[in-house]
Amino acid sequence: DTVADLEHGAAGFAFSSGMAGIDAVWRTFLRPGDTIVAVADIYGGAYDLLVDVYQKWGVNVVFADLGNPDNLDKLLKAHNVKLVWLETPSNPLLRLVDIKALAAKAKAAGALVGIDNTFATPYLQQPLDMDCDFVFHSATKYLCGHSDVLMGVVVAKTKELAQPLHDMMVHTGAIAGPMDCWLVLRGIKTLALRMNAHCQNALEIARRLEAHPAIEKVFYPGLPSHEHYELAKTQMPKGIGGVVTVYLKNDTREAANSVIKNMKLVKMASSLGGVESLVNHCYSQSHSGVPHDVKIEMGIKAGLLRFSIGIEDADDIWNDISAALDTTL
Ligand SMILES: Cc1ncc(COP(=O)(O)O)c(C=O)c1O
Repeated sequence: DTVADLEHGAAGFAFSSGMAGIDAVWRTFLRPGDTIVAVADIYGGAYDLLVDVYQKWGVNVVFADLGNPDNLDKLLKAHNVKLVWLETPSNPLLRLVDIKALAAKAKAAGALVGIDNTFATPYLQQPLDMDCDFVFHSATKYLCGHSDVLMGVVVAKTKELAQPLHDMMVHTGAIAGPMDCWLVLRGIKTLALRMNAHCQNALEIARRLEAHPAIEKVFYPGLPSHEHYELAKTQMPKGIGGVVTVYLKNDTREAANSVIKNMKLVKMASSLGGVESLVNHCYSQSHSGVPHDVKIEMGIKAGLLRFSIGIEDADDIWNDISAALDTTL
């Protein structure tokens, strides 16, 4: 109910993990022969679920670069698209898509639109107000905010869409436990405060990273150098969130390991969105199930590091990261 209120939806459902929540939406609304169009740089676990499970069940899975909304037109003409699945900003390259433009096109063609809003949170972006039908959160991340819960939440825009989702949740049983729900409700009490701190720290660290000699490229849509900076200003006017991704100049697993091992404050973990700063080596962690060629196509290289910038003192975070980066020079 709380997340449904925050997202301006009709009803919300809490699952035992983010993946269980995504699966519930897809399982409720997709049947063999249906087409799902998903953003090409979808979260690795969601990619695996589509390719390893849904595709094998006869669902037509189409991954598409929807950076230009017109790319969806061709797909809506060529396929009987049941569901369009967006993720913006995406994990890990923080690519944005134009939610309003894509939802309008999908709705005109009779398709449903779901969106993974994990990175933005309802504090920074409310996609149901932009005509999406479902919004999904890995509540494991910012909604919880303390890295001590695994949970997914799905909010449906209308009661009609909520009912079959509710039934699927009951039939399949991947519900969230009461203690986890309590912990996430506790986290949501400070969501606005935490997100403001994440946004401020992340922008500061992103700016400093851009000037560090060990860095090839910084991905943060709050920087003018990001390909979707203009869209970010209008779609996420309050801020971009706490994830900052970099390519190291030394594009090797060894260099990435050296950065990870030499940081003391910033810990390595697959997760993100907690109050403490974390780092993830996406190639071998969050996207390890994605085949090498696909990872390279997605831009997930050996020298890519995804930082989840926490709410600690910005100078403390920077001193830790910059000293570790120096070891790759
Ligand atoms: C964008 C995004 N969506 C979905 C998930 C899956 O959520 P969970 O880990 O809670 O199953 C993750 C986890 O990293 C994620 O980052």
